[in-house]
Amino acid sequence: MDAWIFGYGSLVWRPDMPVLERVPARLPGFARRFWQGSPDHRGTPQAPGRVVTLIDDPQGAVDGVLYRVERSVADEVLAKLDHREKAGYQRLSRSIEVPGRQVQGLVYYAAEGNPSWLGPAPLEVMASHIHRSVGPSGSNRAYLLRLDEALRSMAVVDEHVAELAAAVRALAR
Ligand code: BEZ
Repeated sequence: MDAWIFGYGSLVWRPDMPVLERVPARLPGFARRFWQGSPDHRGTPQAPGRVVTLIDDPQGAVDGVLYRVERSVADEVLAKLDHREKAGYQRLSRSIEVPGRQVQGLVYYAAEGNPSWLGPAPLEVMASHIHRSVGPSGSNRAYLLRLDEALRSMAVVDEHVAELAAAVRALAR
């Protein structure tokens, strides 16, 4: 069987893997939050950046993108993603909603209390953290703004992302 991989963070705008299909999709039961530390991509071990993870939200849902990956390359693709997302993330299998059907898909999830977990902070504190953080994959600011732009282009409203992006944009002025 082909593998289905759900993206709600950098995978939305930088899948960086061979895909057969890309469809807008919704993961029920979670909310997207910039509550995970990034010691390896958008920050450093000494000064981790802030990136997205999922938190439980029984009434909520996360809008993102579902990718279909051909089964002959799925193991290799997942091994690369596991390596790319090794700082606190684990893979979950969840039922994902796509127009007209449900698909069992894989999702990267960093649980509360993992070694890179940052948790919540006031909006202005998170914004200034993101504004100043940089890592080997680039600035934390670009990560947030690209996600915000990608979600907008899909007509997705995510207030947490939009408020944070507006606060970070305001800091650059
Ligand atoms: C994603 O874009 O879905 C993603 C988020 C966090 C870790 C790995 C992937």
